[in-house]
Amino acid sequence: MLIMDINQIKKIEKEASDEIDDTQDLNHLEQVFRKYLGKKGKLSLILRSLKNLPDKEKILIGEQSNKLKILLKEKIEQKSTQLKKTSSKDNKNQEWIDVTAPGVKILQGHLHPITKVLRQIEDIFQSMGFSVVEGPELETEYYNFDALNVPKNHPARDVWDTFWIKQDKSNPKIGRQLLRTHTSPVQVRHMKTHNPPLRIIAPGRCFRYEATDASHDIQFHQIEGLMIDKDVSLANLKGVIEQFMKIFYGKDVVMRWQPSYFPFVEPGLELLMRCDVCNGKGCSICSGGWIEVIPCGMVHPNVLRIVGHNPKNWRGFAFGMGLDRLVMMKYKINDIRLLYSGDLRFLKQF
Ligand code: DAH
Repeated sequence: MLIMDINQIKKIEKEASDEIDDTQDLNHLEQVFRKYLGKKGKLSLILRSLKNLPDKEKILIGEQSNKLKILLKEKIEQKSTQLKKTSSKDNKNQEWIDVTAPGVKILQGHLHPITKVLRQIEDIFQSMGFSVVEGPELETEYYNFDALNVPKNHPARDVWDTFWIKQDKSNPKIGRQLLRTHTSPVQVRHMKTHNPPLRIIAPGRCFRYEATDASHDIQFHQIEGLMIDKDVSLANLKGVIEQFMKIFYGKDVVMRWQPSYFPFVEPGLELLMRCDVCNGKGCSICSGGWIEVIPCGMVHPNVLRIVGHNPKNWRGFAFGMGLDRLVMMKYKINDIRLLYSGDLRFLKQF
């Protein structure tokens, strides 16, 4: 586009000035800038075509268009500052805080009742000199049964309904694998790698392939305990466990001991407590008002031998308490499955 006429420049000046004056926001102002002063803007095109004009016109039109360029730039700048001022004022007018409005409650999560009780139990045993150790949930048949003096094909093995894992044929050394049915294999793992005297507890998740009801689920938690020393006796076992129960419940609970059988202890015992849910009347989670809470016993000499400690020098006790049952007793929960349901209506109560 060739503009030789000085009037054309005047026309652009009028047109651009009007547009700048009418502009009410910064975006539009930017468009106006591009329309006249941008690379392909009207004024820029004129300036670029000057070279084709005869000298006289070149000087005249060049001078005028440069003046206009400066003028328009100034105008746009002024307008821009003015628009920025008014827009920040508008924002301030819209911003306000209602200091009397009630606050928004921030939802806070909390620990699962199993975790809460576990931490409390860990504290109690730690105060008695026990340390906390862990073992794997995916176990081998050796640690879960063989090393615990539960012979292959022995009927005692049927007590633990087991989830077997498909065998990894590429690694036959591992042997058959399973989801651990109890935390007792952690005893073996720890004794194999540590020399006595020992005092540990080993909390963890266990699994059994069995029908579920109010007091059984396919997953549950146990806390294994083990103490090995020179002169550990049954009296120490009873003392530690009764002391634990007193601290844990914060009162004298009604308890009773009865003999029991587990291949990895001799003798084997079981601590029963009077059911707190039904007050000893009998309910869905106890048997006749009593509930078995802590199976235990003196570590079988065979187990000590298997892990490489001489039973003539070392003796000890072990126990394996059902954490879920303790939680149920403590909070008077009448169905173990609630603990694993993930139901917030239930969980929010703790
Ligand atoms: N592991 C046993 C079970 O799950 C419980 C048990 C009994 C653990 C006696 C022990 C023990 O450490 O000494 O049935």
